[in-house]
Amino acid sequence: MEPLPAQSGRESPFAADVRAGLTARRKTLPPKYFYDELGSQLFEAICALPEYYLTRCETEILSQHAPAIASYLPRPTSIVELGSGSSVKTRYLLEALLARQETLLYQPIDISESMLSQSTRHLLLDYPNLRIQAQAGDYTHGLGAVKRAQDGALLVLFLGSNIGNYDPHEAQRLLTTLQRSLRPGDLLLLGADLKKAPALLEAAYDDALGVTAAFNRNLLVRINRELRADFDLKKFAHRAHYNVEDGRVEMYLVSQEVQEVHLRSLNISVQFQRGETIHTENSWKFDLEQLQMLAAQSGFAAVHSWLDQGKHFSCNLWQVATARHLPV
Ligand code: TRP
Repeated sequence: MEPLPAQSGRESPFAADVRAGLTARRKTLPPKYFYDELGSQLFEAICALPEYYLTRCETEILSQHAPAIASYLPRPTSIVELGSGSSVKTRYLLEALLARQETLLYQPIDISESMLSQSTRHLLLDYPNLRIQAQAGDYTHGLGAVKRAQDGALLVLFLGSNIGNYDPHEAQRLLTTLQRSLRPGDLLLLGADLKKAPALLEAAYDDALGVTAAFNRNLLVRINRELRADFDLKKFAHRAHYNVEDGRVEMYLVSQEVQEVHLRSLNISVQFQRGETIHTENSWKFDLEQLQMLAAQSGFAAVHSWLDQGKHFSCNLWQVATARHLPV
């Protein structure tokens, strides 16, 4: 019989990341793996939760101010969206642009192929003048393939406070890389959650129904399925903690007892102490001054920020600095 090539061949990126994360002294798992088919559905459910104000506030901003946002854009403008999900909030912007130009090219990039194909289908049915070029994959790699209408500008959407899921250095690096792939005059609309009372923040990431807990623990379900592991879900609890000094909500899975977990595809066993954590996500919170600095540090000129009535969330329009914006 032929030997199985899987063992000798290179590990998948998922396998390599899980191995690195669970064998580290302080255990972690990368958040991008939340979004398998079920994970993407659970995230959509999170967005509908009463405690998760982020989506509602951002939707309020876009529904109120999409025409004002569009008024800053040259004609024609094409839209790229990093992490487009269901594209529901985006509709306000698509409509505002379609009111000022004949056709619109929309390029959603999302790690969930099922979410992407479903949203594309719905959008094409609803907007006959919309052209869509969807890309399934990690949006940090997808920027190279982005197109623009001839002579037109590009508006990049980075919504949902996804920028807050990167630590400050990575966030600046990501935005700088993005800036370099754009042309002078192109724009970025950045959704960023604002600092607020810890109780509100912690509720948003630990809801009463337990959907966020299920979303977090689904990471273990995925590892069980894809890496032939035996995580016992009942023995891991979800925890969300707002770290005031660092201005971030930290998400953990907490081992409820001493236990050993086997990951057969990785050929490893992992020990857990009682109370030991796997750090699965950070969600940084901002104030407007920090966002101004982030814009300047990554080569953008801040154009305008819009907030919801309750001042919980911000949508920030930045433009790639033209020569006259650059510091001398
Ligand atoms: N971008 C979202 C946020 O930071 C992601 C998110 C929402 C999330 N709820 C979560 C990530 C719970 C992990 C766990 O708000």
